[in-house]
Amino acid sequence: DALPVLVEDHLPAGALVAALRADALAGLTATPRRLPPKWFYDERGGRLFDEITRLPEYYPTRRERELLAAVAAEVAGLTGADTLVELGSGTSEKTRLLLDALRDAGTLRRFVPFDVDGATLTAAGAAVARAYPGVAVHAVVGDFEHHLGTIPGGGRRLVVFLGSTLGNFEPGPRAEFLRAVAATLGPQDAFLLGTDLVKDPARLLAAYDDAAGVTAEFNRNVLHVLDRELGADFDPGAFEHVVVWDEEHEWIEMHLRARDAVQVHVAALDLTVRFAPGETIRTEVSAKFRRETVRAELAAAGLDLRRWWTDPAGDVALSLAVP
Ligand code: AVJ
Repeated sequence: DALPVLVEDHLPAGALVAALRADALAGLTATPRRLPPKWFYDERGGRLFDEITRLPEYYPTRRERELLAAVAAEVAGLTGADTLVELGSGTSEKTRLLLDALRDAGTLRRFVPFDVDGATLTAAGAAVARAYPGVAVHAVVGDFEHHLGTIPGGGRRLVVFLGSTLGNFEPGPRAEFLRAVAATLGPQDAFLLGTDLVKDPARLLAAYDDAAGVTAEFNRNVLHVLDRELGADFDPGAFEHVVVWDEEHEWIEMHLRARDAVQVHVAALDLTVRFAPGETIRTEVSAKFRRETVRAELAAAGLDLRRWWTDPAGDVALSLAVP
């Protein structure tokens, strides 16, 4: 019989809306305006992102899955991990490749998915508990910025952070995040990181501005979230999806650009925001990496890059690092 799924929740009711309120107030009153990408992902945003991962232009998910399939057994052999900790696990789909490899190597004992979305975590955790008899599931509901320290210790742990989510952090918070990951690792543990790589800007731009317009809808979804959660009166259709490749920082930026002058009221903040025609809100940065920058950023956090794998086309990379 499947062992029960233990769920440890660090996000009290209301914590997410409070964080959204603080982010919206800071970001909508800043110059230039910005909103953090984590607020794309309500139920509709999650579904739209899922659709994005299947678009012909959006290579990262598909490439990373292929790469993971090719190297999972090697990762299992190199780490000998008994615990798989997945940061931002969502539905834990790609994780199965690693769980299978660790099970086949005979070392897998425990799975620790970590995510902000408790409902998704509980469902995914239960599915893993059923599919991997004898494997304990200890799910942790929390956010990367505050709760990495609560990840359960013990055993030999492989901590994985896939999907190039690291690219959503700007340099300062990224360094902080990597330091926090390093702080949770014991001498036996390892860290597997998935990153998207610098490539032809035309391909990058297409990946974030697909012909079917799914990414545009995903981008505008953050306005639907503000309308629903904070009583804002954004008309998402009044904003255009804009994608920029920043050559200097080597990151993609997504913006929402007001087509005309727009006035928006956010009831929960008692705030009125006036957009000039063409004014934008930056809603996401998605940094692209090179081996040398990954190595240096890991090293700055006290982590040593031991292995680096890319798919044959060199589109994405997996890095294995140890304390
Ligand atoms: C989930 C952060 C990896 O940056 O590629 C996809 C999100 N944004 N299309 C990315 C996203 C627009 C995605 N990550």
